[in-house]
Amino acid sequence: MSERTLVLIKPDAVRRGLTGEVLGRLERKGLRIDAAELRTMDAALADAHYAEHVAKPFYPPLKEFMTSGPLLALVVSGDEAIAVVRALSGATDARQAAPGTIRGDFGLSNRENLIHASDSTASAEREIALWFPKL
Ligand code: PPS
Repeated sequence: MSERTLVLIKPDAVRRGLTGEVLGRLERKGLRIDAAELRTMDAALADAHYAEHVAKPFYPPLKEFMTSGPLLALVVSGDEAIAVVRALSGATDARQAAPGTIRGDFGLSNRENLIHASDSTASAEREIALWFPKL
């Protein structure tokens, strides 16, 4: 079933010049890019986007990192896009992510881990509404 999901190519990937690499992997898989915007997340958007994590101890460093520079926000669609993008991304902790995944190939951190991808239909729709309210 065709689905859409929110992807953030995170500030570390943009800083390291890996935006094209990550975007290319999504496109070569056969997924469609429905929207894209290079944008710096502000504090209010970070608190809304990560609403379920704001009280967790890792949230302050996560927020500092995610607001530290531009990221590429995308709406990506395709058959089972939510699970497919999560599989391409690999485990949250890039040190443990499998080789062949985006995090496994390019990351060494559970904070600077290159990509965010919605984890369910409900979060995808909530996150798309936050980032791309007109879609
Ligand atoms: S949880 O509690 O299991 O739901 O959290 P998790 O899915 O593992 O991670 C949620 C997001 O928090 C980021 N994260 C961290 N950031 C900074 N420091 C530490 N220690 C840390 N641990 C996890 C992680 O990269 C996830 O970001 P997103 O954007 O959701 O991928």
